[in-house]
Amino acid sequence: MNYISIQDIDSLSKWVKSALKIKKNPLKNQSLGKNKTLGMLFFNPSLRTRLSTQKAAMNLGMNVMVMNFTNEGWTLEFEDGAIMDSGASEHIKEAAEVVSQYCDIIAIRAFAGLADKEKDYAETVISGFLKHATVPVVNMESAVRHPMQSLADAITMEEYKTKHKPKVVLSWAPHPKALPQAVANSFVEMMQMQKDMDFVITHPEGYELSPEITKDCKIEYDQNKAFENADFVYVKNWSNFNDYGKVTNTDPNWTVTAEKMALTNNGKFMHCLPVRRNVIVSDEVLDGKNSIVIQQANNRTYSAQLVLQKILKKL
Ligand code: CP
Repeated sequence: MNYISIQDIDSLSKWVKSALKIKKNPLKNQSLGKNKTLGMLFFNPSLRTRLSTQKAAMNLGMNVMVMNFTNEGWTLEFEDGAIMDSGASEHIKEAAEVVSQYCDIIAIRAFAGLADKEKDYAETVISGFLKHATVPVVNMESAVRHPMQSLADAITMEEYKTKHKPKVVLSWAPHPKALPQAVANSFVEMMQMQKDMDFVITHPEGYELSPEITKDCKIEYDQNKAFENADFVYVKNWSNFNDYGKVTNTDPNWTVTAEKMALTNNGKFMHCLPVRRNVIVSDEVLDGKNSIVIQQANNRTYSAQLVLQKILKKL
């Protein structure tokens, strides 16, 4: 079993229930991972994913090895048949198979490069590991998806929802740097799996996510209108998908402020973190009582623990 996309989940509601059960007693399965090793390979920085996944593995009694590929590993080649006479020192074929000798589960973080849409959306790095690793592979944020985050988001919404069919808004917000679409993509895919939620995406015109991801999701270009009566406001920047990887809008009018949150139904503010204060969201909102970003980050441990637990049971 691999965990690459939130769509690898058979029943989101059952998984959320299981994660909440783990949260009540996280050390219950401490012997499940005994003598098993999780290898965490990072091609990009992290705080939450790095620590929550390791914590989850430790709760299950696993050994954990972490490698920062950017400064510790050989530069990898991903193309089949490549003549490796320039930068890359090692092919993914050997690298993935070798890591599989030392680890029972491999978890990988490899962001979009944002220079080549086709290459990013082909998920070159994680696909290479999936093809050549001989052990299960877990996605800790790939070019296109961040399914550990969106599972944690689903757990958090289940805990904080106050009515049967809450309104959930995914809102773009400005950011000075080009960021991948992965978090937004996985949040959209998770929302498509929710049975009883009213979902709307809001962003400036031209900032549409991949139509293959959003499918028939409702899109509202007026952020204020989208926020009306919202129970959850999930905020994230992403760079332009059409003008791929570019920052074509930094309009501060899209920053989430207390005035905007006042349009909601006492809505909860969510963000995956890290977040740029007073660019994405005002201090007032982030520090306010309706901000649940820390609780969201806490749930990363239980989302990771559920994924590892499911895989360990199948080893
Ligand atoms: N939300 C999230 O994935 O955080 P990190 O990038 O710090 O891991």
